[in-house]
Amino acid sequence: MILSLAPMEGVTGYVFRRVHAACFGPLSRYYTPFVAPPHVGKGFVGRAKKELDPQANEGLDVTPQLLTRDADRFVWAAGLLAQMGYREVNLNLGCPSGTVVSKGKGSGFLREPGELEAFLQDVCERSPLPVSVKTRIGIECDEEYEQILAVFCRCPLAELIVHPRLQRDAYRGAPRWEPYGRTLEAAPFDVSYNGDIFSVEDYERLTSAFPQTRHVMLGRGVLANPALPRMVRGGMPASAVELRHFHDALFGAYLDEMGGNAVMRMKEWWLYSSCAFANERAVRKRVRSVKKVADYEAAVERIFGSEPLAPVARYRGEA
Ligand SMILES: Cc1cc2nc3c(=O)[nH]c(=O)nc-3n(C[C@H](O)[C@H](O)[C@H](O)COP(=O)(O)O)c2cc1C
Repeated sequence: MILSLAPMEGVTGYVFRRVHAACFGPLSRYYTPFVAPPHVGKGFVGRAKKELDPQANEGLDVTPQLLTRDADRFVWAAGLLAQMGYREVNLNLGCPSGTVVSKGKGSGFLREPGELEAFLQDVCERSPLPVSVKTRIGIECDEEYEQILAVFCRCPLAELIVHPRLQRDAYRGAPRWEPYGRTLEAAPFDVSYNGDIFSVEDYERLTSAFPQTRHVMLGRGVLANPALPRMVRGGMPASAVELRHFHDALFGAYLDEMGGNAVMRMKEWWLYSSCAFANERAVRKRVRSVKKVADYEAAVERIFGSEPLAPVARYRGEA
């Protein structure tokens, strides 16, 4: 089974990927959080350049993800990525954010199946790298997926990763498994499942319902329980010592990368990782208002010193 780490903007960037792999072993595959392709003739700059730097991703199987509806820029970026040694490029058709959708990008592109098909046929033909897609099943209603799936099936994709929610769901409600099953049946290319796999039981339910499953992408489940991929493969849960070591390595790496802004990054991580503790609200409260590095370190000391771990670390929402 291929287990991959979901792209999560601001969360599963190269620092997280590297530290998680060092502490818990590498997943089969990683996807970068989305980056915008540069203008034709230009190179990647800023955050994208750092995220894609082959050295920062050394030893890991990483697929870059692009967010765009401009075929020329996609193909140009794919050329740059090929030169950097990447072997596949992924298109984001899932981002539900209003500002992205209003520009017809991310899941907003699903509103225009005709344009989407023209785009996909064009980039699949011209891209020097195989093109995979990460998608939602529509914007407003489940019925939209029939037409969208038909579009995908006519394109020579390398893989389709299905997050079976609508744009309007954001991350609410249960993902629909039926459209995932339909995709497995219909697609002439590889298919992957993503959404709400937060425990070994969730994983087993999915793979029992769909034994043809060959690739599961894990997101928030890994943030709440960094040992989840290991557990899915029959390994042990994370001990308190392992969790502390992982935290310290992650914070240290963010400090090296961004100085005091590391505290903000870690506060976002705690939204998820607090689920590894019995009283997740108390854990979140301890870090919520902290701003300075020294105060953050003191809060972390108190968490690990006084908050017991939950019997099972499982993502339970951001309540
Ligand atoms: C904070 C955050 C950032 C995300 N950023 C991206 C992204 O850059 N690209 C993408 O395709 N999906 C992104 N997603 C969606 C995740 O990749 C994934 O589809 C979603 O979390 C559902 O999977 P899960 O239930 O395993 O977490 C993001 C989700 C969250 C919560």
